[in-house]
Amino acid sequence: MPIDILQTGKLHTSCEAALAQRYTVHKLHEQPDPDAWLAENGARIRAHAGSGVQADLMEKLPNLEIIAGFGVGYDNIDTKTAKARNIRVTNTPNVLNDAVAELTIGLMIALARRIPQGDQFVRNSKWPAGNMGLFSELTGKTVGILGLGRIGKEIATRALAMKMRVVYTGRKRQPSEPHIFYDSLTDMARDSDWLVIIAPGGKATDGIVSRDVLEALGPKGMLVNVARGTLIDEPAMLELLQSGGLGGAALDVFVDEPKVPEAFLTLDNVVLSPHQGSATHQTRDAMGALLVANLEAHFAGEPLISAVV
Ligand code: 8YV
Repeated sequence: MPIDILQTGKLHTSCEAALAQRYTVHKLHEQPDPDAWLAENGARIRAHAGSGVQADLMEKLPNLEIIAGFGVGYDNIDTKTAKARNIRVTNTPNVLNDAVAELTIGLMIALARRIPQGDQFVRNSKWPAGNMGLFSELTGKTVGILGLGRIGKEIATRALAMKMRVVYTGRKRQPSEPHIFYDSLTDMARDSDWLVIIAPGGKATDGIVSRDVLEALGPKGMLVNVARGTLIDEPAMLELLQSGGLGGAALDVFVDEPKVPEAFLTLDNVVLSPHQGSATHQTRDAMGALLVANLEAHFAGEPLISAVV
Protein backbone atom coordinates (compact mmCIF):
# COMPACT_ATOMS: atom_id res chain seq x y z
CA MET A 1 0.00 0.00 0.00
CA PRO A 2 1.52 3.34 -0.95
CA ILE A 3 2.01 5.78 1.92
CA ASP A 4 0.79 9.33 1.31
CA ILE A 5 2.87 12.06 2.86
CA LEU A 6 2.58 15.84 2.77
CA GLN A 7 5.09 18.61 2.25
CA THR A 8 3.97 22.18 2.86
CA GLY A 9 7.20 23.80 1.68
CA LYS A 10 10.26 23.06 -0.39
CA LEU A 11 12.82 20.76 1.24
CA HIS A 12 16.50 20.12 0.51
CA THR A 13 16.89 18.44 -2.92
CA SER A 14 18.36 15.11 -1.76
CA CYS A 15 15.67 14.87 0.93
CA GLU A 16 12.87 15.45 -1.58
CA ALA A 17 14.39 12.83 -3.90
CA ALA A 18 14.59 10.23 -1.10
CA LEU A 19 11.00 10.94 -0.06
CA ALA A 20 9.72 10.65 -3.63
CA GLN A 21 11.44 7.27 -3.98
CA ARG A 22 9.66 5.85 -0.95
CA TYR A 23 6.32 7.57 -0.65
CA THR A 24 3.53 9.23 -2.57
CA VAL A 25 4.45 12.83 -1.88
CA HIS A 26 1.91 15.64 -2.08
CA LYS A 27 3.12 19.23 -2.18
CA LEU A 28 0.55 21.53 -0.65
CA HIS A 29 2.59 24.63 -1.52
CA GLU A 30 2.21 23.78 -5.22
CA GLN A 31 -1.58 23.42 -5.07
CA PRO A 32 -3.57 26.32 -6.56
CA ASP A 33 -6.19 26.00 -3.81
CA PRO A 34 -4.56 24.40 -0.74
CA ASP A 35 -7.73 24.48 1.39
CA ALA A 36 -9.80 22.73 -1.25
CA TRP A 37 -7.02 20.18 -1.73
CA LEU A 38 -6.89 19.49 2.02
CA ALA A 39 -10.65 19.13 2.27
CA GLU A 40 -10.60 16.52 -0.46
CA ASN A 41 -7.35 14.68 0.33
CA GLY A 42 -6.39 15.50 3.93
CA ALA A 43 -7.60 12.14 5.26
CA ARG A 44 -5.10 10.26 3.05
CA ILE A 45 -2.05 11.88 4.63
CA ARG A 46 -0.18 9.77 7.20
CA ALA A 47 2.99 11.84 7.56
CA HIS A 48 4.18 15.41 7.23
CA ALA A 49 7.76 16.05 6.10
CA GLY A 50 9.27 19.39 7.14
CA SER A 51 8.68 21.89 9.90
CA GLY A 52 6.07 24.61 10.42
CA VAL A 53 3.05 22.54 11.45
CA GLN A 54 0.39 24.14 13.62
CA ALA A 55 -2.89 22.90 15.11
CA ASP A 56 -5.04 24.13 12.20
CA LEU A 57 -3.17 21.92 9.74
CA MET A 58 -3.25 18.90 12.07
CA GLU A 59 -7.00 19.39 12.27
CA LYS A 60 -7.23 18.97 8.50
CA LEU A 61 -5.11 15.80 8.52
CA PRO A 62 -7.21 13.46 10.68
CA ASN A 63 -5.02 10.40 10.01
CA LEU A 64 -1.67 12.09 10.52
CA GLU A 65 0.70 9.79 12.44
CA ILE A 66 3.99 11.63 12.36
CA ILE A 67 5.56 15.03 11.69
CA ALA A 68 9.17 14.58 10.61
CA GLY A 69 10.74 17.99 11.10
CA PHE A 70 13.71 19.33 9.15
CA GLY A 71 15.91 21.07 11.72
CA VAL A 72 16.99 20.56 15.30
CA GLY A 73 14.68 23.34 16.47
CA TYR A 74 11.01 22.44 16.61
CA ASP A 75 9.60 25.68 17.98
CA ASN A 76 7.57 26.00 14.76
CA ILE A 77 5.77 22.71 15.37
CA ASP A 78 2.87 22.72 17.83
CA THR A 79 4.14 19.74 19.85
CA LYS A 80 1.48 20.15 22.52
CA THR A 81 -1.34 19.64 20.03
CA ALA A 82 0.64 16.85 18.32
CA LYS A 83 0.96 15.02 21.63
CA ALA A 84 -2.72 15.46 22.41
CA ARG A 85 -3.61 14.05 18.99
CA ASN A 86 -1.16 11.17 19.36
CA ILE A 87 0.98 12.44 16.49
CA ARG A 88 4.70 11.74 16.79
CA VAL A 89 7.26 14.46 16.10
CA THR A 90 10.91 14.05 15.13
CA ASN A 91 13.74 16.55 14.56
CA THR A 92 17.27 16.38 13.13
CA PRO A 93 19.73 16.80 16.03
CA ASN A 94 23.50 16.20 16.10
CA VAL A 95 24.15 16.12 12.35
CA LEU A 96 24.27 19.94 12.26
CA ASN A 97 26.36 20.56 15.38
CA ASP A 98 29.64 21.15 13.57
CA ALA A 99 28.18 23.35 10.83
CA VAL A 100 26.46 25.64 13.33
CA ALA A 101 29.53 25.78 15.60
CA GLU A 102 31.75 26.65 12.62
CA LEU A 103 29.46 29.48 11.58
CA THR A 104 29.40 30.77 15.14
CA ILE A 105 33.17 31.07 15.34
CA GLY A 106 33.18 32.54 11.83
CA LEU A 107 30.69 35.21 12.87
CA MET A 108 32.68 35.98 16.01
CA ILE A 109 35.90 36.54 14.08
CA ALA A 110 34.00 38.45 11.39
CA LEU A 111 32.57 40.80 14.03
CA ALA A 112 35.72 41.15 16.12
CA ARG A 113 37.84 41.98 13.07
CA ARG A 114 35.08 43.59 10.95
CA ILE A 115 35.79 41.21 8.06
CA PRO A 116 32.66 42.06 5.99
CA GLN A 117 33.35 45.77 6.49
CA GLY A 118 36.97 45.25 5.42
CA ASP A 119 35.78 43.56 2.24
CA GLN A 120 33.54 46.56 1.52
CA PHE A 121 36.41 48.93 2.35
CA VAL A 122 38.61 47.35 -0.33
CA ARG A 123 35.81 46.98 -2.90
CA ASN A 124 34.80 50.61 -2.44
CA SER A 125 38.42 51.73 -3.09
CA LYS A 126 38.77 53.36 0.32
CA TRP A 127 42.13 51.74 1.14
CA PRO A 128 44.44 54.12 -0.79
CA ALA A 129 43.14 56.99 1.34
CA GLY A 130 44.22 55.29 4.57
CA ASN A 131 43.98 52.16 6.67
CA MET A 132 40.71 50.89 8.05
CA GLY A 133 41.49 50.96 11.77
CA LEU A 134 42.16 48.59 14.63
CA PHE A 135 39.68 46.22 16.18
CA SER A 136 39.61 43.46 18.81
CA GLU A 137 40.45 39.77 18.92
CA LEU A 138 39.03 36.67 20.55
CA THR A 139 42.26 35.59 22.24
CA GLY A 140 42.11 35.91 26.01
CA LYS A 141 38.45 36.92 26.10
CA THR A 142 35.63 35.27 28.03
CA VAL A 143 32.70 33.85 26.11
CA GLY A 144 29.46 33.14 27.94
CA ILE A 145 27.37 30.49 26.21
CA LEU A 146 23.62 30.51 26.76
CA GLY A 147 22.66 26.87 26.17
CA LEU A 148 25.48 24.36 26.55
CA GLY A 149 23.67 21.63 24.62
CA ARG A 150 24.99 19.58 21.74
CA ILE A 151 25.80 22.60 19.58
CA GLY A 152 26.86 24.75 22.55
CA LYS A 153 29.50 22.16 23.47
CA GLU A 154 30.91 22.22 19.93
CA ILE A 155 31.08 26.01 20.12
CA ALA A 156 32.87 25.72 23.49
CA THR A 157 35.46 23.33 22.04
CA ARG A 158 36.19 25.75 19.21
CA ALA A 159 36.22 28.80 21.50
CA LEU A 160 38.89 27.10 23.63
CA ALA A 161 40.92 26.57 20.45
CA MET A 162 40.66 30.35 19.92
CA LYS A 163 42.27 30.69 23.39
CA MET A 164 39.08 32.00 24.95
CA ARG A 165 37.76 31.27 28.43
CA VAL A 166 34.36 29.55 28.37
CA VAL A 167 31.54 29.97 30.90
CA TYR A 168 27.91 28.99 30.46
CA THR A 169 24.35 29.19 31.67
CA GLY A 170 21.28 27.13 30.91
CA ARG A 171 18.56 25.13 32.56
CA LYS A 172 20.97 23.39 34.87
CA ARG A 173 24.60 22.95 35.80
CA GLN A 174 26.28 20.07 33.99
CA PRO A 175 28.71 18.57 36.51
CA SER A 176 30.68 16.77 33.81
CA GLU A 177 31.51 20.07 32.06
CA PRO A 178 34.74 21.80 33.09
CA HIS A 179 33.46 25.36 32.53
CA ILE A 180 32.07 27.68 35.19
CA PHE A 181 28.26 27.67 35.40
CA TYR A 182 26.17 30.77 36.12
CA ASP A 183 22.67 30.60 37.60
CA SER A 184 21.96 34.06 36.29
CA LEU A 185 22.19 35.05 32.63
CA THR A 186 22.60 38.71 33.61
CA ASP A 187 25.54 37.92 35.90
CA MET A 188 27.15 35.84 33.18
CA ALA A 189 26.67 38.65 30.65
CA ARG A 190 28.27 41.12 33.06
CA ASP A 191 31.34 38.89 33.44
CA SER A 192 31.67 38.04 29.73
CA ASP A 193 33.18 39.79 26.72
CA TRP A 194 31.05 37.72 24.37
CA LEU A 195 27.57 36.28 24.78
CA VAL A 196 26.69 33.44 22.41
CA ILE A 197 23.04 32.40 22.22
CA ILE A 198 22.41 28.79 21.27
CA ALA A 199 19.39 27.79 23.36
CA PRO A 200 16.13 26.48 21.86
CA GLY A 201 13.39 28.89 20.80
CA GLY A 202 9.84 28.69 22.11
CA LYS A 203 7.82 30.01 25.02
CA ALA A 204 10.36 29.08 27.70
CA THR A 205 13.08 31.27 26.20
CA ASP A 206 11.04 34.08 24.65
CA GLY A 207 12.83 37.38 25.29
CA ILE A 208 15.23 35.99 27.90
CA VAL A 209 18.04 38.08 26.49
CA SER A 210 16.35 41.17 27.88
CA ARG A 211 17.44 44.80 27.98
CA ASP A 212 18.96 44.11 31.43
CA VAL A 213 21.07 41.27 30.04
CA LEU A 214 22.20 43.40 27.08
CA GLU A 215 23.08 46.32 29.35
CA ALA A 216 25.05 43.94 31.57
CA LEU A 217 27.01 42.78 28.51
CA GLY A 218 27.68 46.46 27.97
CA PRO A 219 29.40 48.90 25.59
CA LYS A 220 32.33 46.57 24.93
CA GLY A 221 30.22 43.42 24.88
CA MET A 222 29.67 41.37 21.76
CA LEU A 223 26.53 39.37 21.14
CA VAL A 224 26.12 36.41 18.79
CA ASN A 225 22.75 34.80 18.02
CA VAL A 226 22.70 31.49 16.16
CA ALA A 227 19.54 30.20 17.88
CA ARG A 228 16.26 32.01 17.27
CA GLY A 229 15.48 35.71 17.00
CA THR A 230 12.77 35.33 19.62
CA LEU A 231 15.28 34.88 22.45
CA ILE A 232 16.39 38.52 22.28
CA ASP A 233 14.47 41.71 22.96
CA GLU A 234 15.24 42.85 19.40
CA PRO A 235 14.12 46.51 19.72
CA ALA A 236 16.24 46.91 22.89
CA MET A 237 19.22 45.32 21.15
CA LEU A 238 18.85 47.67 18.20
CA GLU A 239 18.60 50.72 20.42
CA LEU A 240 21.68 49.72 22.44
CA LEU A 241 23.68 48.98 19.29
CA GLN A 242 22.76 52.43 17.97
CA SER A 243 23.58 54.26 21.21
CA GLY A 244 26.81 52.38 21.95
CA GLY A 245 25.28 50.67 24.98
CA LEU A 246 26.18 47.36 23.36
CA GLY A 247 29.49 46.86 21.58
CA GLY A 248 28.41 44.74 18.62
CA ALA A 249 26.27 41.88 17.40
CA ALA A 250 26.60 39.07 14.90
CA LEU A 251 23.15 37.81 14.02
CA ASP A 252 22.16 34.76 12.00
CA VAL A 253 18.52 34.82 13.12
CA PHE A 254 15.83 37.47 13.52
CA VAL A 255 12.39 37.74 15.08
CA ASP A 256 10.54 38.17 11.78
CA GLU A 257 13.04 36.62 9.35
CA PRO A 258 13.53 36.80 6.45
CA LYS A 259 12.53 40.38 7.18
CA VAL A 260 15.29 42.28 8.99
CA PRO A 261 14.57 45.68 10.55
CA GLU A 262 15.98 48.40 8.23
CA ALA A 263 17.90 50.04 11.04
CA PHE A 264 20.29 47.07 11.32
CA LEU A 265 21.47 47.66 7.76
CA THR A 266 23.14 50.95 8.52
CA LEU A 267 25.02 49.84 11.64
CA ASP A 268 28.77 49.35 11.44
CA ASN A 269 28.98 47.28 14.61
CA VAL A 270 26.89 44.38 13.34
CA VAL A 271 27.46 41.41 11.08
CA LEU A 272 24.30 40.02 9.49
CA SER A 273 23.75 36.50 8.17
CA PRO A 274 20.60 34.99 6.61
CA HIS A 275 19.98 31.97 8.92
CA GLN A 276 22.89 29.97 7.57
CA GLY A 277 23.75 27.85 10.63
CA SER A 278 23.15 24.49 9.02
CA ALA A 279 23.47 25.65 5.42
CA THR A 280 26.18 23.41 4.00
CA HIS A 281 25.71 20.65 1.43
CA GLN A 282 26.99 17.96 3.77
CA THR A 283 24.88 19.01 6.74
CA ARG A 284 21.66 19.57 4.81
CA ASP A 285 22.14 16.14 3.15
CA ALA A 286 22.58 14.59 6.60
CA MET A 287 19.53 16.41 7.99
CA GLY A 288 17.43 15.18 5.08
CA ALA A 289 18.68 11.62 5.52
CA LEU A 290 17.78 11.71 9.22
CA LEU A 291 14.30 13.03 8.46
CA VAL A 292 13.76 10.15 6.02
CA ALA A 293 15.26 7.59 8.44
CA ASN A 294 12.76 8.69 11.09
CA LEU A 295 9.86 8.21 8.68
CA GLU A 296 11.17 4.80 7.64
CA ALA A 297 11.53 3.75 11.28
CA HIS A 298 7.99 4.89 12.00
CA PHE A 299 6.40 3.01 9.09
CA ALA A 300 8.48 -0.10 9.86
CA GLY A 301 7.20 -0.05 13.44
CA GLU A 302 10.73 0.49 14.77
CA PRO A 303 11.85 2.98 17.43
CA LEU A 304 12.25 6.53 16.11
CA ILE A 305 15.81 7.78 15.84
CA SER A 306 15.22 11.27 17.15
CA ALA A 307 11.77 11.72 18.63
CA VAL A 308 10.75 14.90 20.42
CA VAL A 309 7.18 13.72 21.06
C1 8YV B 1 16.91 25.25 9.94
C2 8YV B 1 17.69 25.45 12.16
O1 8YV B 1 16.13 24.19 10.30
O2 8YV B 1 17.94 23.20 12.70
C3 8YV B 1 17.45 24.27 13.01
O3 8YV B 1 16.77 24.42 14.02
O4 8YV B 1 17.50 26.54 12.56
C4 8YV B 1 18.15 25.28 10.81
O5 8YV B 1 18.91 24.16 10.60
C5 8YV B 1 17.27 25.20 8.55
O6 8YV B 1 17.81 26.44 8.27
C6 8YV B 1 16.11 24.88 7.64
O7 8YV B 1 15.15 25.88 7.67
